[in-house]
Amino acid sequence: MRKIVEEGYEKGDYAGTFRISDKPNEMEEGFLKKLIKLLPKNPHILDFGCGIGVPFDKYLDDHGCKVTGIDISQKHINEAKKNVHNAKFIKGDFSKTDFQETFDAIISFYAIFHIPREEHKELFLNMADLLKKEGKILITLGTSGSYGEEENWCGAKMVWSTYKPEMYKKLLDETGFKILEATFEGKQGDKEYHFWVLAQKK
Ligand SMILES: C[S@@+](CC[C@H](N)C(=O)[O-])C[C@H]1O[C@@H](n2cnc3c(N)ncnc32)[C@H](O)[C@@H]1O
Repeated sequence: MRKIVEEGYEKGDYAGTFRISDKPNEMEEGFLKKLIKLLPKNPHILDFGCGIGVPFDKYLDDHGCKVTGIDISQKHINEAKKNVHNAKFIKGDFSKTDFQETFDAIISFYAIFHIPREEHKELFLNMADLLKKEGKILITLGTSGSYGEEENWCGAKMVWSTYKPEMYKKLLDETGFKILEATFEGKQGDKEYHFWVLAQKK
């Protein structure tokens, strides 16, 4: 999956299709505000699959957060560096991180579904390890409960792998997270139908 995903984001035009605005929409901003309110002053936030850094990392940077973003696409990392000067961006696989420090929060929007779902539990365990005591996660997860691929998504082949939301609730509980808020973006049948979770390390 990773090879298809990396090549897909290098070749395709995700940013030109989905990231036209550098401002989060109402729902996204609502969640970002809630997250910031739960964190200490000037928190350090890790972004898994940061894309081009807008709108999310820019918003967090503008609101006093220190941000470190990781993305598998060199093209996205290059754009992110231009878009958010204060943040640190690293090219790499977020499921194979090697940080010595811990973070106040981890965010991951529209990215976890790009690694095989059999690895999602392990990813949540790694996230818990990377967080400080009572650290927070704000993530979007898939809803279909299946593997999916499209030959021409934003101009390139792309793949996704997800569980259903009930399974994610179970996995998050098992990996040491207490869900503070969970809601859907879109509804069943919509092209964009995601499960948003704000949770705290137990
Ligand atoms: C749909 S885009 C979302 C980007 C950003 N979070 C946003 O909402 O604008 C998914 C991003 O995840 C990145 N990605 C996918 N799998 C990854 C992996 N295993 N490690 C790091 N980044 C990954 C892609 O390169 C892409 O930039």
